[in-house]
Amino acid sequence: MSSKTELTAYENKSLLRFTTSGSVDDGKSTLIGRLLYETNCIFEDQFAAVERTSQRRGDKRVDLALLLDGLAAEREQGITIDVAYRYFTTAKRKFIIADTPGHEQYTRNMVTGASTSQLAIILIDARHGVVTQSRRHGFLISLLQIPHLVVAVNKMDLVDYSEAAFRRIVEDYTEFSQKLDIHDISFIPISALDGDNVTTRSPNMPWYDGHTLLHMLENVQVSADKNYVDFRFPVQNVLRPNLDFRGFSGNVTSGTIRVGEEIATLPSGKISRIKSIVTYDGELEEAFAGQAVTLTLEDEIDISRGDMIVRRNNLPHVGNEFDVNLCWLDEQPMNPRTHYLLKHTTQKVKAYISGIHYRINVNTLHRETTDHFALNEIGRVTIKSSRPLFFDSYRVNQGTGSFILIDPLSNHTVAAGMIRGQPRDVKSVTHTRHAESLRSANVHWEGGMISRQSWEQRNGHKAAVIWCTGLSGAGKSTVAKGLISALFARQCQVMMLDGDNVRHGLCGDLGFSDQDRSENIRRVGETARLFYEQGNIVICTFISPFHDDRGFVRSILPQGAFHEVYIKCDLSVCKRRDPKGLYRRAEAGEIKEFTGIDSPYEEPENAEVVVETDIDSVESIVAQLEAYLLERGIIS
Ligand code: ADX
Repeated sequence: MSSKTELTAYENKSLLRFTTSGSVDDGKSTLIGRLLYETNCIFEDQFAAVERTSQRRGDKRVDLALLLDGLAAEREQGITIDVAYRYFTTAKRKFIIADTPGHEQYTRNMVTGASTSQLAIILIDARHGVVTQSRRHGFLISLLQIPHLVVAVNKMDLVDYSEAAFRRIVEDYTEFSQKLDIHDISFIPISALDGDNVTTRSPNMPWYDGHTLLHMLENVQVSADKNYVDFRFPVQNVLRPNLDFRGFSGNVTSGTIRVGEEIATLPSGKISRIKSIVTYDGELEEAFAGQAVTLTLEDEIDISRGDMIVRRNNLPHVGNEFDVNLCWLDEQPMNPRTHYLLKHTTQKVKAYISGIHYRINVNTLHRETTDHFALNEIGRVTIKSSRPLFFDSYRVNQGTGSFILIDPLSNHTVAAGMIRGQPRDVKSVTHTRHAESLRSANVHWEGGMISRQSWEQRNGHKAAVIWCTGLSGAGKSTVAKGLISALFARQCQVMMLDGDNVRHGLCGDLGFSDQDRSENIRRVGETARLFYEQGNIVICTFISPFHDDRGFVRSILPQGAFHEVYIKCDLSVCKRRDPKGLYRRAEAGEIKEFTGIDSPYEEPENAEVVVETDIDSVESIVAQLEAYLLERGIIS
């Protein structure tokens, strides 16, 4: 074979990333050494040096673990290595081993080294059986969703290759792993020191009829392990080498994208199409998960680092509160009263731990109550971030479902988290949202007043809440004023609640943080309900950027009373209109948390009416709304 064909064959081989873990003296280094040696991936002189050292020490056999001593030496010199990568190759496959040295920091090492692995090997010493570490590692593998687990029962030579010893461990570990989320688990009896069942079948264990370890590594099916469905492209950098080129570079975290496909950019919500996919080696028609590329779009859109490009019809979740599996990695225990920096894709935001649900006992898998996590502890918490993130659950998307927490003072990575989703516990659902939970003590609803039906009869129309949501400058107030005039002419009883107006009094104490906006909408929603009950058509005009808040108002009104009207207008048009000059100031950094600039707007998904002020005139929109009210029988 010419060297060129060899090279092509090498490049076309599939790749398996795997990790090894175990407890002290389990023979992990020996196993890695043996794999490298038997696949001819060490140099003669390296082997000769190891042989000499073994002889000098009077070892009976060549100690292949010494091959990994270069690393040990570096560690002794105080060079911190969390994860060392080793490479070897066989006729079938290329391999990368994420070797996680050190034992004190095993959670950190596992989490950082193993998270991109497709397979994990847990070594269990045949003499000692299943120990806490074996369970902890299994638990982490399940948490990290590593698809394949091989439990290598090592040092079989020291238990006389006893089948019973092996079976006992298989039974113990199977019982434990059944409670975990591990789908593919294999057991193999080996002796890393002698090479039994590592690359060749062992004559010492004829009772074992399974494959060798190397055979498993070479044949495990890994192609479907990546998420190729949900396109997520967190923007790392905006490239503008000259006036004609504007590209967004980053890694395709998941999914695929082709030239010409329609995309949405987050948080702006702007829609465009992929114009080109540029790489160092030229342009591509299609980009896949794992590739580093630069995208250019057909339209000029403002995008900055930390934004995300996704397919228009396949959006991630947006939120600033997360239900999370958290592994604590720092000597310094968790402090729930302080802020951390949360790094997620290309974003870095402030965050704090707003609730600790439980810690997991890795031996029993039982949940334990606690008020903090210490080093290596794992459990479930709720985290709040200062700004919303675009995320998926870790289960469906590891790239957009994971994050780390950094201590802003020490700059240490203190925790790694896997997002389960948005919190679903009763407290978070009822928190400031549930009318009942906010009721003061000893108050009673004043009943016996004129009923809504009576008011409706007298007014000659039904009561309703018309909720106009949309960006600042979209034209909510303008549309509302037009509608009020029309309804006034029809002699309807109307009440208008407007964002800018209520913020002068009723909500004058609130700002524009996500929390304040929620509170703003809650108060206004409650006010709207009071007016609604007295027969009014209540027209509300609020940006109300969050689904949940609009959903809250819908939830406190009777079925069919809440009419969501999405006043849709392209952000660029709103910016151009800029009736109050606020966009200009927000872009200059003078106003923080401005919707569409550095605070998100969650588009309604099920609005009763959608009107487009950048396309239609105010008159025609008002007519459209009147028609809707007629059709619904609110007015006649
Ligand atoms: S909401 O998001 O909390 O519903 P609301 O509709 O009450 O917003 O108020 C929006 C109005 O406040 C805007 O029309 C604008 O005039 C003004 N405003 C001032 N600061 C901001 C900001 N950071 N984001 C959005 N609007 C702002």
